[in-house]
Amino acid sequence: MSSKLFMLICTAAAFSFFAFTKYAPADDNKSFGYIGTKACGMCHNKEKDGAQLKIWENSRHAKAYETLNSQEANKISNELYGKKAIEADECLVCHASGFDVDAALIGKKFKLEDGVQCESCHGPGSEYKSLKIMKDREQSVANGLKIYSSEAEVEKFCITCHNEESPTYVAFNFKEMWQQISHYIPEKN
Ligand code: HEC
Ligand code: HEC
Ligand code: HEC
Ligand code: HEC
Repeated sequence: MSSKLFMLICTAAAFSFFAFTKYAPADDNKSFGYIGTKACGMCHNKEKDGAQLKIWENSRHAKAYETLNSQEANKISNELYGKKAIEADECLVCHASGFDVDAALIGKKFKLEDGVQCESCHGPGSEYKSLKIMKDREQSVANGLKIYSSEAEVEKFCITCHNEESPTYVAFNFKEMWQQISHYIPEKN
């Protein structure tokens, strides 16, 4: 092999390795930690900014873990998996945030009991939660914030849980369901 060609290959390899290490973490949710709904709600709680915390608290998502801790749920999971619902990963996967995450990535204030939390939909927030980063959308995304480019993309995401794998599945009407939990920041003039 000519030494020129060898150099070229080395440069290309080094470059692609650099590109990989630079971008890989943002693509892998598992490297960001979960801080829990209360920590997000500290900032996202004002009426004038859309009261995201309150809307979530009043939604079924906040009760999704509690639902598993019921006779009805245990009956279903005992029949399917021979164990209690809160002990079945097969149920937790849709009813709780961060249940299967390495303990090192779970923050002190995080509570599994809070069910389907902000971070199930927006991505784990340990690296984007600071005011400085949050104010900058691009920075937030680079640090783990998940955003959706269209309603169709949001719908596709909802259906990762609202589907026939749910033992109690009821048809999912996206527009109606999104209206029930929508929590945009109001337009500022
Ligand atoms: C220290 C305060 C603070 C904390 C904590 C915080 N945020 Fe934010 N967040 C903000 C601010 C400020 C904005 C920008 C609001 C604006 O653009 O008007 C924002 C914007 C957002 C947006 C909109 C991004 C966009 O551009 O579409 C989302 C979604 C969001 N935050 C989710 C979360 C989640 C989930 C958590 C918890 C993991 C969290 N935030 C924690 C202050 C915070
Ligand atoms: C991580 C899984 C998951 C994702 C993602 C998810 N949901 Fe849910 N959702 C649930 C579970 C579980 C329940 C039932 C909770 C309960 O009743 O205990 C639920 C319940 C609801 C309810 C209440 C339904 C009722 O009959 O009262 C609405 C509305 C809803 N979801 C809307 C949405 C929308 C809109 C999206 C997408 C933006 C979405 N969900 C994404 C898991 C999820
Ligand atoms: C079931 C999924 C789900 C849950 C749970 C959820 N969100 Fe959202 N959130 C969304 C979606 C989808 C949007 C719309 C995003 C878009 O259109 O880009 C959104 C929008 C937002 C926005 C406004 C973005 C804007 O540009 O107006 C903020 C802020 C936000 N969420 C914060 C939170 C916080 C804080 C929590 C928890 C208290 C939370 N969300 C819980 C799915 C969710
Ligand atoms: C694929 C995601 C998914 C899985 C897996 C899942 N659920 Fe759910 N669960 C949902 C959603 C979404 C809802 C709300 C709407 C519906 O029933 O489709 C729900 C609602 C419920 C409800 C409330 C029904 C009602 O009528 O209010 C119970 C009880 C329940 N689930 C128990 C379980 C148990 C027990 C398991 C494990 C054996 C389980 N779920 C697994 C997504 C899931």
